[in-house]
Amino acid sequence: MHGNHTAHLEYSDEEELKTDVCLGFFLMVLFTSSYSEVDSVDLDLADGGDVLNELGASFPPLESPPVHFDTENNTVVTAQTGSTALVPCVINNIGDGTVSWIRRKDYHLLTVGLATYSSDDRFQAIHLQHSEDWTLQIKFVQQRDGGLYECQVSSHPPTSIFIQLNVVEARADIQGPSEKFLKPGSGLRLQCTVLQSTEPPAYVFWYHNNRMINYDVDRGINVTTELSEKSSTLTITNAATRHSGNYSCVPSNAQPASTYVHILNGENPAAMQHGGRGLSWLQCSPSSWLLILFSLVVLMC
Ligand SMILES: *[C@@H]1O[C@H](CO)[C@@H](O)[C@H](O)[C@H]1NC(C)=O
Ligand SMILES: *[C@@H]1O[C@H](CO)[C@@H](O)[C@H](O)[C@H]1NC(C)=O
Ligand SMILES: *[C@@H]1O[C@H](CO)[C@@H](O)[C@H](O)[C@H]1NC(C)=O
Repeated sequence: MHGNHTAHLEYSDEEELKTDVCLGFFLMVLFTSSYSEVDSVDLDLADGGDVLNELGASFPPLESPPVHFDTENNTVVTAQTGSTALVPCVINNIGDGTVSWIRRKDYHLLTVGLATYSSDDRFQAIHLQHSEDWTLQIKFVQQRDGGLYECQVSSHPPTSIFIQLNVVEARADIQGPSEKFLKPGSGLRLQCTVLQSTEPPAYVFWYHNNRMINYDVDRGINVTTELSEKSSTLTITNAATRHSGNYSCVPSNAQPASTYVHILNGENPAAMQHGGRGLSWLQCSPSSWLLILFSLVVLMC
């Protein structure tokens, strides 16, 4: 029992000693660990700095990514006279850069940001907030608007792309010869197409001499227009002499075309067969006939 006690005492002493050692070890661990924590924080900072420097070498973190044009450089756009031209310029990563449009022909500054600098208010930069699109709009395009346009971003250094605007003159065309010859009772079909156009017309009017005939159904005239096809067809199923004359196709946004229709009354079958040449011979003015007659008389004498 005593032995046991002694043993117990010894044990408890041993335990005390063990506790002390443990406490010392714990304090030491605590001390060293807190010390090494500070150390490791220092190390982390140092590491972080290194990482930052490494990043800085390849991608400067304080500078924004470079300006990039989404519109292809030297793009060509075509617009017809009188239409609204849209000269594209889509820019990524513009940052706080400003977009200017410059007409290269005369280095005329057209727009800066959303402001139009030109006294010609047909020019306007079209840009929706937060969009990357800085399209230049030119209203009522004229031939003289054709040429190079520069879309410039005020980055450092400034960077530009160039867009070529081609201006075309749309024109109407009536298929076939400019003079047509018909027998009474036959059918007439005039097919008008708008050529060289970049957008469909708003309307196509047909004129017979000076009269607009689009709605003259009761006079035997049928006009069918396919605006999206940029074409219009005039048909007369039963042509009469009153239908002869000058027919013009007048689109809203293109040069008109005309053709002269002759409805022959049957007295000139030869002229009809020989077409324009025969008729123009018969159509000699009275003075020409007099001249011919006079020449004959002189020859006979
Ligand atoms: C676009 O092309 C022109 C030459 O036509 C050149 O001077 C300019 O630097 C080009 N712009 C870009 C962004 O590449
Ligand atoms: C006019 O012509 C079109 C086809 O060219 C035809 O579909 C339409 O029925 C004609 N209208 C009249 C009133 O004859
Ligand atoms: C037909 O009319 C058009 C338009 O009014 C005119 O320009 C053209 O000269 C005329 N053609 C003829 C042969 O009279």
